[in-house]
Amino acid sequence: MAAPHTSTAPPTITCRDERFRLYLDRNRLQARIRELGQEISEAYAGKSPILISVLNGAFMFTADLMRAINIDCEIDFLKLSSYGAEKVSSGQVHELKKIDANVTDRHVIVVEDIVDTGLSMEFILNRLQQHNPASLRVATLLHKPASTEVDDLTLDYVGFEIDNLFVIGYGLDYGQLARNLPDIYILDEAEENHQNDA
Ligand code: IMP
Repeated sequence: MAAPHTSTAPPTITCRDERFRLYLDRNRLQARIRELGQEISEAYAGKSPILISVLNGAFMFTADLMRAINIDCEIDFLKLSSYGAEKVSSGQVHELKKIDANVTDRHVIVVEDIVDTGLSMEFILNRLQQHNPASLRVATLLHKPASTEVDDLTLDYVGFEIDNLFVIGYGLDYGQLARNLPDIYILDEAEENHQNDA
């Protein structure tokens, strides 16, 4: 992957032989995350919520979001099966790591990197609901509304609604690569169409 770490984001990068263009740079990401942290701090004042971070993709967002929250809060992690090296959701969700914390009567915020079809989030919310939390909300950095199949999915805190194209960086991977990029890149549509025409 040709993506040197510099203080400014390169406008395009190549990951696994595909071209991606800069979509959300680090300044926009961090500014929006500070807003979300403030909103959550105000909404949960005096409540000490527990953030449930969805591995692997949400680790970077969770770390920044948690630092932007200025009230008492806790953290735990769960892990679901991933896309593997594909760019399209398999639609099959499995739990690979359960949470350790007891969330009964707790105020729970699920922290996700991206909601695409919504099937993973539906699965997570159903699982957590079985433990009778005091409240259950979702914070997702990104949402692709055009590809969300679950109708009654409430996303309480959304960083950005984005186009229905594959994105990488800032925790999001393509075949495990690109998670370390500080900025988010989107698949270059022009390049894709060009390849499809060929
Ligand atoms: P969903 O179940 O289809 O909503 O997908 C949720 C998971 O798929 C996310 O937590 C991501 O790990 C992964 N995912 C969805 N869209 C993308 C993307 O554009 N880039 C990288 N990973 C994605």
